[in-house]
Amino acid sequence: MVLVSEPVAWRLYGPKTLAALRRSGLRVERHLMPRGEKAKTWQAVSGLMRDMLRLGLGRDCTLAALGGGSVTDAAGFAAAIYMRGIPWFSLPTTLMGQVDAGIGGKTALDLPEGKNLAGAFHQPTAVVCDTDFLGSLSPRERISGLAEAIKCGLAFEPALLDFIQNNWNALRVGAPGPTERVVSRAAACKMRIVAKDERETTGERELLNFGHTVGHALEATAGFGPLRHGEAVVLGMRAALWLSRRHAGLPEPQAARADGFLGTIPIPRLDLPVSAVLSALQRDKKARKGKPRFVLLRGLGRPMVTAEVPERSVRVAVGSLLEEIR
Ligand SMILES: NC(=O)c1ccc[n+]([C@@H]2O[C@H](COP(=O)([O-])OP(=O)(O)OC[C@H]3O[C@@H](n4cnc5c(N)ncnc54)[C@H](O)[C@@H]3O)[C@@H](O)[C@H]2O)c1
Ligand SMILES: [Zn+2]
Repeated sequence: MVLVSEPVAWRLYGPKTLAALRRSGLRVERHLMPRGEKAKTWQAVSGLMRDMLRLGLGRDCTLAALGGGSVTDAAGFAAAIYMRGIPWFSLPTTLMGQVDAGIGGKTALDLPEGKNLAGAFHQPTAVVCDTDFLGSLSPRERISGLAEAIKCGLAFEPALLDFIQNNWNALRVGAPGPTERVVSRAAACKMRIVAKDERETTGERELLNFGHTVGHALEATAGFGPLRHGEAVVLGMRAALWLSRRHAGLPEPQAARADGFLGTIPIPRLDLPVSAVLSALQRDKKARKGKPRFVLLRGLGRPMVTAEVPERSVRVAVGSLLEEIR
């Protein structure tokens, strides 16, 4: 087996994890990828696979990825292609990883032209979400992960949204009990959707993109870095709520309540031009003929996909959001 990690996750949890695996009698090698998005490059993945060859690991070996979404995406991708595919285990160490990135079998690399433009579907044999890993996260990383759990609540499970809202202060500081509840409910929510549409062919899985159309455009415009992914998704969800109220029949009190909550989540100040965000929307991976596709809500927990949102509405929704964070 090869245990793959990155320097920060390794320093915190690597030696213990390695010792636990070795205690069970396995021969375990280790490999460290660069930290953060730098893991999601051809160079880093090729470095991992060449190291595996050097260590004499063959088709019968298993990979275990210990780290945030960048490690599980990149190492999962290496597992998908190494000797045409070997089994892998996902051991996500961030909240983002435990509620979203580490589960569902999407693995990916970034290309200079954009994020996640190469990848494969390769389901992990098992995902181990140990919430003890989460105590060391910074408040910002925690909030970024909570954003994906809020997304599940808004789009599929209003009771989860209520739970997050009622326990927000405890969740922000990483209280173990509520954190464990959110991880297990949000992870189960994602798995339920993925099980219905593993390879994103029937449309069900696309609904997990609630908040991501505008979110991705903001990340791309800000130039990946100033905004954590979850922070961009918070803003994207606010835009999607605004559009849902006008174009999908989301009742005003539900929209106002959800937006009121999202509006309290701290987001860094940014100065982005509306026109740049609108052109990023047209270039989105999922846009068809320059028309972005949106997941909107007919009600809380009732998502739908549409490509028929008038551009002037998008301009107003994005414009007022950018005004707020300027
Ligand atoms: N495959 C999917 O379905 C999917 C879904 C969502 C996001 N993603 C991808 O996930 C990536 C983002 O994941 P992420 O937010 O976990 O980022 P990340 O892996 O870069 O981790 C964020 C930071 O936290 C540090 N870290 C990791 N574990 C820690 C711990 N326990 N305590 C303290 N610090 C820790 C890391 O060193 C890093 O600096 C993006 O590349 C995104 O595209 C994939
Ligand atoms: Zn996301």
